[in-house]
Amino acid sequence: MIDVAIFSVYIEDGCIVCDACEEAAPNVFEVTDDTCFIKPDVRIDGGYDRNEGKSGLKAEVISAFSDDILDAADACPVDVIIVVEGTGEEPPEPEETAAPEPEEMMTEEVVAEPVELSGDDLEGLLATGDRSMSIMFGSQSGNSEDLAAKFAKRASGYGLDATVVDMDGFDLSTLPSMKRVLIICSTWGEGEMPDNAEELWQQASTDSAPKLPGMHFTVLALGDTSYEFYCESGKDWDRRFEELGATRLVERVDCDVDYDPAAAAWALDALAAMAAVDGNGTFHEDQVEAIKDYVSGAAAAGAAGEDGFVVPNITTEAIQVEINIFRYNPVTAASGRDTWICALPGHMSVLEALRVLKATHDGSLTFRDGTCDDPTTAISVNGRLVLPGNVRLDSVAPTRDGGLRLRIEPLPAFDVLRDLVVDHWTLERKRESAKPWMVAATREGADTAQGVMGTMDPVTATSLHSMTDFSSAPLLHSCSDATPHSEEYLGPSVLVGTWARIHDPRTADSNRERLQTVIDSRNGIKAETDLASIRRQNDSSRVVAEALLDARTSALSRDSFNGRHGKHVWWYTWTVKSSGRVNDTVIYRQVLGPMGLMGNLFSGVTARMVFGFTRTGGKVFNDLLGMFAPPAGIGKMPKQFNSQVDNHHEVVAIFNEVDGRF
Ligand SMILES: Cc1cc2nc3c(=O)[nH]c(=O)nc-3n(C[C@H](O)[C@H](O)[C@H](O)COP(=O)(O)O)c2cc1C
Ligand code: SF4
Repeated sequence: MIDVAIFSVYIEDGCIVCDACEEAAPNVFEVTDDTCFIKPDVRIDGGYDRNEGKSGLKAEVISAFSDDILDAADACPVDVIIVVEGTGEEPPEPEETAAPEPEEMMTEEVVAEPVELSGDDLEGLLATGDRSMSIMFGSQSGNSEDLAAKFAKRASGYGLDATVVDMDGFDLSTLPSMKRVLIICSTWGEGEMPDNAEELWQQASTDSAPKLPGMHFTVLALGDTSYEFYCESGKDWDRRFEELGATRLVERVDCDVDYDPAAAAWALDALAAMAAVDGNGTFHEDQVEAIKDYVSGAAAAGAAGEDGFVVPNITTEAIQVEINIFRYNPVTAASGRDTWICALPGHMSVLEALRVLKATHDGSLTFRDGTCDDPTTAISVNGRLVLPGNVRLDSVAPTRDGGLRLRIEPLPAFDVLRDLVVDHWTLERKRESAKPWMVAATREGADTAQGVMGTMDPVTATSLHSMTDFSSAPLLHSCSDATPHSEEYLGPSVLVGTWARIHDPRTADSNRERLQTVIDSRNGIKAETDLASIRRQNDSSRVVAEALLDARTSALSRDSFNGRHGKHVWWYTWTVKSSGRVNDTVIYRQVLGPMGLMGNLFSGVTARMVFGFTRTGGKVFNDLLGMFAPPAGIGKMPKQFNSQVDNHHEVVAIFNEVDGRF
């Protein structure tokens, strides 16, 4: 139960896009690239912005999500979520914050006379002299490194010129020349430094380590409270820098596994404090708050169109949308289509449009709902397979006469449970049968509580990661032209996972062999007809298609074209070699069997080939030679002629591969 009546909620300047609110109240908040918006479907005005106009929330939203909204406001590390209490149509007047009495403000001991800087002086402070700052990271699995890169980008907004520094191989003697240093370091093993920080730590711990009197620093420690030595490495650096004479500007922050909100809040203080160190190395503590205001205020000025900078308006006019949706009722086993015509803002996502239809037109409309990157929400919109939360209405189809048409269907290659919801378990069962799990080999490395820890070279790690970095396994599975026609075929998402595992240097040899048999099996990569349909989806699926092409090439090379399909390929390759051309007729004959060949005879395809009018314009003699006297031997011909292939797509897949070789 909540004891406050919420009327509205809005976001003030200064959001640090930490995602905490979206996690607490995903139905209300949506974090964008640079701020947080209140979603249109919860607001009375339907707008999509920070809701600075304090539009009221819908009654059903207030009753369902008030607790979540208050949780989000609590979770916001920079307190920019403002909850407006009240019940009226008009937002209540914001409460005046009583100015503190002068006496209250004087509670802290004044250490030094602050140097007052005017607005111009502040800009001068942020723009002149040496503004360099180093962000040193100690990282084993990349979290600290990622944060270092992220905060380095943010630093330019504070007039800082940040450099990300890997502790590995860092020359300790250069440390005293640095005025501003942020340290982001995780803890590994049992309270130990990550590998890339170990050597520097050993050097910095010696008596001969250089003193750091001119340095200003602060530490962000990454760790995990389930370990006995929580954030030990960060604590070590914090203590050691102080011992060496450096000045701590901001207290160290220790982060648990969910480190983003705490890290973002630390960065806010750390960057402002570092920005307040002038070119001579003097820290202007009194300017830190002014810098924070300046940075968030500068952003607001830009957004308002001052300084000649205009933020593009992401809200759009309502457009007329005709939405045609596949419907299926499992109780009556009836299927059909429903069409709705409605006016919706073009910037609304397809998922939001489905929610609107469900809320206002047909409560029985069924689709998988979730966050915008939820892989299970994938559907087909105008033939494109998409995550509907990631796609704007006006981007899926061209707008004609102020309107657009959407044809929404469930993913192909899966059984439909109801309307747009498909049964993903078929894919899960395929994954289960392929078992592309990690079964690790014993390797050199630290024997930790989690198992053996080793290192991987960056090229391999990047390649493995990019292979499997697709947005949705069901979506990728449906990209294939073969999966809708073959229940047994494992499909691209399972196969690329298996292929990546084979190339993972941590995989045990015995497991690698087993995974290889999965790739080579008749339901493996040879059952994929055409990688083009996968390749054309998007950037990540292009990488998947490349990996699958490698898998197919290796499978074909390994089995030396053995087996029934292999014989066709072997015969075909020689035929192609003899004719010097790739010839459709030969493929058809093999795929369709003797009846197909007869069909070709009557349709004139064979005749065209003989007389040199094939699609590829082959030479008559060579084509004839290829047909009737392949080097495979005349004796084998009848067998080939009389055997029709059950799974056409398997043969086509092999021919495609061969095609690429000649
Ligand atoms: C094998 C292993 C050992 C760890 N040991 C500790 C530890 O002793 N103390 C701690 O606070 N965190 C420990 N952690 C948690 C990591 O510090 C934490 O996951 C951190 O976010 C990793 O950051 P990085 O990717 O920058 O290395 C350990 C994690 C693993 C996987
Ligand atoms: S919790 Fe606060 S800072 Fe984080 S994204 Fe939401 S509004 Fe922004």
